[in-house]
Amino acid sequence: MFPMSLALLLSITKLLSFATAADVEAAGSSSVSRFVFNGFLGANLNLNGAGEILPSGLLQLTNNTHKQEVGHAFFPTPFLFLNSSLGEPSSFSTSFVFAIVPQYSDLSSEGIAFAVSPSVNLSAGLPSQHLGLFNLTSNGDASNHIVAVELDTTESKEYGDINDNHVGIDVNGLISVASMPASFAPNSTFDSRFENLSLISGEPMRIWAEYDAKNIQFNVTLAPLHVKKPSLPLLSSKVNLSSVLLRDMYVGFSSSTGHAAGSHYILGWSFALNGKAEELDPSQLPTLTITEEDPASAKKTKYWAILFPIAVVVLLVTISIIIVFVLSKRKRKYAEVIEEWEAEYGPHRFSYRTLYKATGGFSNDNILGNGGFGEVYKGLLSKSKQEIAVKRISHDSKQGMKEFGAEIASIGRLRHRNLVQLLGYCRRRGKLMLVYEFMPNGSLDKYIFGRVEQSLSWKQRFNIIKDIAAGLLYLHEEWEQVVLHRDIKASNVLIDAEFNGKLGDFGLARLHDRGETGETTRVMGTFGYLAPELSRTGKSTRSSDVYAFGAFLLEVACGKRPVELRGCGVELVLVDWVTEFLRRGELMEAMDRRLGEDFVLEEAEMVLRLGLICSHPVAEARPGMRQVAHYLQGEAPLPDMTPEDFPLFQSASIRNALVVGVSSSD
Ligand SMILES: *[C@@H]1O[C@H](CO)[C@@H](O)[C@H](O)[C@H]1NC(C)=O
Ligand SMILES: *[C@@H]1O[C@H](CO)[C@@H](O)[C@H](O)[C@H]1NC(C)=O
Ligand SMILES: *[C@@H]1O[C@H](CO)[C@@H](O)[C@H](O)[C@H]1NC(C)=O
Ligand SMILES: *[C@@H]1O[C@H](CO)[C@@H](O)[C@H](O)[C@H]1NC(C)=O
Ligand SMILES: *[C@@H]1O[C@H](CO)[C@@H](O)[C@H](O)[C@H]1NC(C)=O
Ligand SMILES: *[C@@H]1O[C@H](CO)[C@@H](O)[C@H](O)[C@H]1NC(C)=O
Ligand SMILES: *[C@@H]1O[C@H](CO)[C@@H](O)[C@H](O)[C@H]1NC(C)=O
Ligand SMILES: *[C@@H]1O[C@H](CO)[C@@H](O)[C@H](O)[C@H]1NC(C)=O
Repeated sequence: MFPMSLALLLSITKLLSFATAADVEAAGSSSVSRFVFNGFLGANLNLNGAGEILPSGLLQLTNNTHKQEVGHAFFPTPFLFLNSSLGEPSSFSTSFVFAIVPQYSDLSSEGIAFAVSPSVNLSAGLPSQHLGLFNLTSNGDASNHIVAVELDTTESKEYGDINDNHVGIDVNGLISVASMPASFAPNSTFDSRFENLSLISGEPMRIWAEYDAKNIQFNVTLAPLHVKKPSLPLLSSKVNLSSVLLRDMYVGFSSSTGHAAGSHYILGWSFALNGKAEELDPSQLPTLTITEEDPASAKKTKYWAILFPIAVVVLLVTISIIIVFVLSKRKRKYAEVIEEWEAEYGPHRFSYRTLYKATGGFSNDNILGNGGFGEVYKGLLSKSKQEIAVKRISHDSKQGMKEFGAEIASIGRLRHRNLVQLLGYCRRRGKLMLVYEFMPNGSLDKYIFGRVEQSLSWKQRFNIIKDIAAGLLYLHEEWEQVVLHRDIKASNVLIDAEFNGKLGDFGLARLHDRGETGETTRVMGTFGYLAPELSRTGKSTRSSDVYAFGAFLLEVACGKRPVELRGCGVELVLVDWVTEFLRRGELMEAMDRRLGEDFVLEEAEMVLRLGLICSHPVAEARPGMRQVAHYLQGEAPLPDMTPEDFPLFQSASIRNALVVGVSSSD
């Protein structure tokens, strides 16, 4: 019964939008100067990427299941934005209705931009925070000639975003010339009070963007769909576009998703050059029938309406008593805490309830492992069916909490294919939960230390080594700040479905301005991977990370832990063990026996030697990660070295460290 009525509704909507879709008016000689689309059925638009017109007449810019996606939709013919017989560029005005429906209700999916562009081909535009408009090289370049109004739902600090829910005017780049938190003036004829709106609420909202070229005045106004245009614009800025607008410019939309997917819709759109864009009529727009819950809840309403009023009242009273009772209990069960740093950084907050359900109530059956700070659980998000790993961290001091605040802020923004991606977090009482992408093949140590049947081939090991080098290089040198990992080891390397290596557990990472060294007085890391100077200075540096990377290289090649402790004495120090083989001229004897002869001699020898070079007891003698990456890619030969370059005093310094009492976090 209900699918039939839906189909009927759909066809009515179809008919309606067909009648009103392409109301395009020509003016002047050849160029169209205004148009209005109340729904897009039958509209002739230039669509690219994920851009698509749905049978309901909605313009869908991105698909709600695809991450890192871009979608473009442009009016197919250009407008004359610069008429040389007039002194200034054309004024323009546009109005459109949009809706952003993220895949998870509380996880942003980047945003939408209205764009004026010299080309409809923005295929060079990147997804995620680049909104499909620019890439890393073109961003900020005056030769782009792109003006945009962005509806941005993530906070990209590198582009100076004010928050994760804002409207901005962009000229040639993503650093907005003006921006404001998404809000509107509900009673603008009487007062100038603004009320906040959430762009990712899934509710249709309307934008009016108007540019007055004579007064170089750019106004942008936002309001919920059924509110008439407030007389107070959200943004009202002087922006001189005379050097930006070219003679022929296209108008349209660009949109992107990032780490979370989402649907970006345009319901209606009007535009006018040198005039006022026609007001869209909300009653003519296609309806947003995207959530499956909608028809169900409509059915429910109907059902209730049929019931006897008295029965309803009795039932409601009973229900509300139960609900109040349950809620007050639940509230205590799921209560969360919000602190200052969260308001400031606030990325991707999951509700405790979501994670509780996803992990089966943090059941022991779902424990994947125990990290340095607490347990890691496997989880399944019930709505999206996405698998996640939840790291549950206990903290008991304010000091600890500050560290984690910094961790979330930094790692939430780190993006590299060889780093385990943080999807979000949750906080409740004494627990912090970090949500990561799930790595189906677990951690590397299980494979190389023989705890699982399957060992890894040399090819897989070498690829993983190169992956981790790339991830660490990104942390050390390619991001805007130096990030020290501080705990590189095989058990912190995770393996994805294709056996790529990803560096995980940034529990110890802290941000450092490039060039400065860490200031911590507490030595962190894992015994056996700690550079000798750490026990003296207590300061982590990029060199101490390189030392740990050296230990990692050796353990992957040799299949042995860096230090094997038995009882209270040190039995085997891997660096010294390998150095001993080097001295005897039998370096390849150090290779993991399980590999047999199945390795590429040159690669294996290079990894062993590089492991020793990185494990050099003198910090200054260790290479930087860029150099290491060059060696591994075969782009530079390893420096000549003799066994004498490797003094055999590492055992001694490791024993010292043991005596001094450096704690192990593993
Ligand atoms: C998104 O794409 C998938 C496959 O690529 C398709 O099955 C699905 O229907 C699309 N969703 C929407 C809302 O268009
Ligand atoms: C340019 O502006 C002039 C003066 O308003 C007008 O007469 C002319 O038709 C315009 N040219 C075009 C191509 O629209
Ligand atoms: C769009 O531009 C890219 C280069 O940025 C080019 O490779 C591609 O062929 C162009 N596509 C069209 C349809 O013109
Ligand atoms: C960046 O975009 C510009 C044009 O928008 C294009 O010419 C250039 O090739 C792109 N660069 C990369 C690295 O894709
Ligand atoms: C708008 O402001 C006027 C004057 O302050 C007030 O009387 C009226 O109630 C306000 N309306 C709303 C909807 O807030
Ligand atoms: C509206 O949002 C801004 C920025 O997110 C915030 O500073 C402000 O307190 C919010 N106002 C209200 C009334 O919630
Ligand atoms: C822009 O907004 C200002 C008020 O901030 C108003 O005076 C002006 O008329 C508006 N201009 C346009 C083109 O809407
Ligand atoms: C805008 O900039 C152009 C030069 O780029 C200048 O000639 C013009 O006077 C400026 N317009 C205003 C209103 O300042």
